[in-house]
Amino acid sequence: MQENNPTPNSKIEKAVRKLQRDRIVVFRINALTRIGREELMNIFVRIFEEFQLNPAMLFNLYSAVVEIIFNAIKANAKHVIFKSEVRMKLLKQQFDDIDSLIEIIFHEEMLRDFMTRHIIPEKLKKRVNNVLQLTEKKRTGRAATLTTKDIQQLMEFNKLLEEEEVFIHFTMAMTDEKIVFNVVNDIPILSKDMERIQQSRRVHRKLFDEGRSTDYFGPDFIDVTESAGFGIAMADEIYYEMQLDPLEFFTISASEGATRAVMHFPRAKFTL
Ligand SMILES: Nc1ncnc2c1ncn2[C@@H]1O[C@H](COP(=O)(O)OP(=O)(O)O)[C@@H](O)[C@H]1O
Ligand SMILES: [Mg+2]
Repeated sequence: MQENNPTPNSKIEKAVRKLQRDRIVVFRINALTRIGREELMNIFVRIFEEFQLNPAMLFNLYSAVVEIIFNAIKANAKHVIFKSEVRMKLLKQQFDDIDSLIEIIFHEEMLRDFMTRHIIPEKLKKRVNNVLQLTEKKRTGRAATLTTKDIQQLMEFNKLLEEEEVFIHFTMAMTDEKIVFNVVNDIPILSKDMERIQQSRRVHRKLFDEGRSTDYFGPDFIDVTESAGFGIAMADEIYYEMQLDPLEFFTISASEGATRAVMHFPRAKFTL
């Protein structure tokens, strides 16, 4: 969502009209701060009105979409910071022609995955969370609370984003049969992350089959490798509540150097 828009309402109406006319609307996102989240919520409210969807479903749907967009934002941040850490390692080792070396490393999935062993995950995670928090502060009018060091870090991070040209495309589509949300980021997900996601989703599914899907959120099943790891599980849970199989309706995949999360919802589940 773009920030600093003087006429947010007209932007919301434009998105709604576009969805009515073309059945599809695309947003390019590079952050989703409080302002952007409010804007997205308002778009959802208007869409639910216009298409006469059951308002009881609104918050669930909105939360799932926000989680998925956040994952993409985090993944982009993680990627550019990871890459800068790799660059620093190579510089320390005094390699020649670092740019082409990095090019090769990041082109080959195996090499890229291999490099994760040389980067301390805790440090990476800390840097990612830090810049995301700083971004939120800056964009929600609390720039005054930023220290000189914060501003420096934010500038470095923005420069990385610019150099790497990372963006997220968020698409909403609506037909008579279904509602589809598509979140694509230009960064291919690491295969070990993908395996971790698939594995946790299968565990969640198994618990659902045993009639205890919410146990997944209890202390026994939490995957704390990276964070709470509840985003995807929360989205899956929304599907379980609707008696739909999330592994069928919600897919996360990597292809052509991009990660895409696609959430399908049968429109019938939203009729009043
Ligand atoms: N769009 C994406 N691109 C890359 N990695 C992703 C994406 N979405 C999710 N992931 C990976 O899946 C993991 C689990 O996501 P999630 O369940 O939302 O938990 P959390 O966001 O709390 O880590 C993330 O930690 C991340 O490694
Ligand atoms: Mg998440």
